[in-house]
Amino acid sequence: MKKNVLRIAIDGPAAVGKSTMGKLIARELGFLYVDTGAIYRAITWKVLKNSINIKDEDVISNLVSDTCITIERANRKSLNDYFYIFVDGEDVTEEIRNPRIDQNVSQIARLPKIRKQLIYLQRKLAEKGNIVMEGRDIGSVILPQADIKFYFTASEEERIKRRYKELINNGYSIDYEEVKKQIIQRDKIDSKRKYAPLIKAKDAIPIDSTEKSIEEVKDNILKMIKKYRKCREKTN
Ligand code: CDP
Repeated sequence: MKKNVLRIAIDGPAAVGKSTMGKLIARELGFLYVDTGAIYRAITWKVLKNSINIKDEDVISNLVSDTCITIERANRKSLNDYFYIFVDGEDVTEEIRNPRIDQNVSQIARLPKIRKQLIYLQRKLAEKGNIVMEGRDIGSVILPQADIKFYFTASEEERIKRRYKELINNGYSIDYEEVKKQIIQRDKIDSKRKYAPLIKAKDAIPIDSTEKSIEEVKDNILKMIKKYRKCREKTN
């Protein structure tokens, strides 16, 4: 690991604003941003495309071994078009946000074999330099040595409202109750799974964004990162 590299881990439940904040922070600091949820979504996309049973761990594991996932920086100006993700060379950036993926992703992400296979890819991405990486187990499993860890929370109601608005704005016709059901179900599976559950790492800083503006949360986080860097410079 290069000296002075800064690795920032963000974890938290569904639709808590990790992606928005992760991209904003990464953009502000000129860091690489990795949304690990997009990787699980991409695998789910391929599983569904191949009509594979989402409970068949061995078949999915073979599929993962045979899959090439790549992430490319896209338009850093727009948060909606910040990176592209490809499965075997096919751009799936938009398709992985389809509610059909939301319905299935956590069932696949709970499979230990699949998670173990994806550790290498995530750690490899994190070796590239200064990074903001977000997901469910970044501070606990993927980058337990991350320099700064944040654990995001927001009330369930607010998270459901945010995701509903986002899906409607992106042109999906889905009703509020369905979004609510999906978020509650995903959080339950993600936090109850045995292997690498959604968890706040002991040393993670809690960030509650309920009723706070994006700017407010961003400024607060940037302040903490600045302080950390200053302190590290002094001790080096
Ligand atoms: O954007 P949202 O918070 O709704 O979800 P996401 O970050 O795109 O993640 C989608 C799903 O992938 C989660 O519900 C988890 O089941 C899984 N995931 C995971 O298990 N571990 C990660 N590090 C990231 C995502």
